[in-house]
Amino acid sequence: MAFRYISKEALAGSVTLGVVLFTGYLIGKRKSTRMSIFKSHGEGKDNPLMQYVLNNSMREHPALKKLRLRTMEHSWNIMMVACEQSQFMANMAKLIKTKKALEIGVYTGYNTLSIALTLPDDGVIVACDVSEDYTNIGKPFWKEAGVEQKIDLRIQPALKTLDDLLSDGQAETFDFAFIDADKVNYENYYEKSLQLLRKGGIIAIDNVLWGGKVVNPSPDDQDTVAIDKLNKKLHRDARINLSMLTIGDGLTLAIKL
Ligand SMILES: C[S@@+](CC[C@H](N)C(=O)[O-])C[C@H]1O[C@@H](n2cnc3c(N)ncnc32)[C@H](O)[C@@H]1O
Ligand SMILES: *[C@@H]1O[C@H](CO)[C@@H](O)[C@H](O)[C@H]1NC(C)=O
Ligand SMILES: *[C@@H]1O[C@H](CO)[C@@H](O)[C@H](O)[C@H]1NC(C)=O
Repeated sequence: MAFRYISKEALAGSVTLGVVLFTGYLIGKRKSTRMSIFKSHGEGKDNPLMQYVLNNSMREHPALKKLRLRTMEHSWNIMMVACEQSQFMANMAKLIKTKKALEIGVYTGYNTLSIALTLPDDGVIVACDVSEDYTNIGKPFWKEAGVEQKIDLRIQPALKTLDDLLSDGQAETFDFAFIDADKVNYENYYEKSLQLLRKGGIIAIDNVLWGGKVVNPSPDDQDTVAIDKLNKKLHRDARINLSMLTIGDGLTLAIKL
């Protein structure tokens, strides 16, 4: 059909359709280049594939589930570790027969409880946070699960706790560490955890993809710069073997050689 025979209405219709389709294409393109990885209680919440993963793999202890639901009522709940990631780390900790663990950044203590549940009777997790308000939310659930005596909670800056452990002669005695507190200190947490770890121990580092921002860090974004710097350092670090996993907000496992 020649152009001049198309009615004004039909032409307007086609132009509108074109604009709609092109806008849809642009939105789709922007989505696919955003490159963020999902937490099941964050952006992944309504994703059917994520639901499938949860439906077919989660085996939460009842107290752990209650703590997760309680945490979801808290305004900062996006800080909580993704439950699927926590279960993975608990499996890793168990696999390497963890007796002594370290949690740097506890929040409401979901992951602290998840790890504590895998520890033997004489096991311990040293849990570092600066906030009693957050950690108090978790305590009743730690008790309900019957593992509160395995959780050594220290309310002070985590660097101070790590230094205390080192000066107390506990270097090379920890099996597993989870780094999940203030990002500007990530490198310090990594160096001190590495000293505290035995050979074959694992350091798990959270948020290594930081919502995708690490791909193109803006120089004035200190958190992203710190994470990207540590990621690059770990890649070259001959003291460890590593994997960078696309689970949650990105998780690096560093195995001490
Ligand atoms: C992302 S949340 C931790 C989430 C937790 N790992 C979980 O399983 O849900 C970060 C926590 O780090 C704590 N934090 C921030 N700066 C800290 C510091 N200098 N020393 C210790 N904890 C700190 C915050 O109070 C907050 O509870
Ligand atoms: C997951 O389980 C819920 C509750 O049983 C169900 O409604 C939903 O359809 C399931 N989704 C998938 C993708 O398996
Ligand atoms: C570390 O990785 C190297 C290969 O890159 C491998 O040969 C070695 O066995 C690994 N060591 C451990 C402890 O996993």
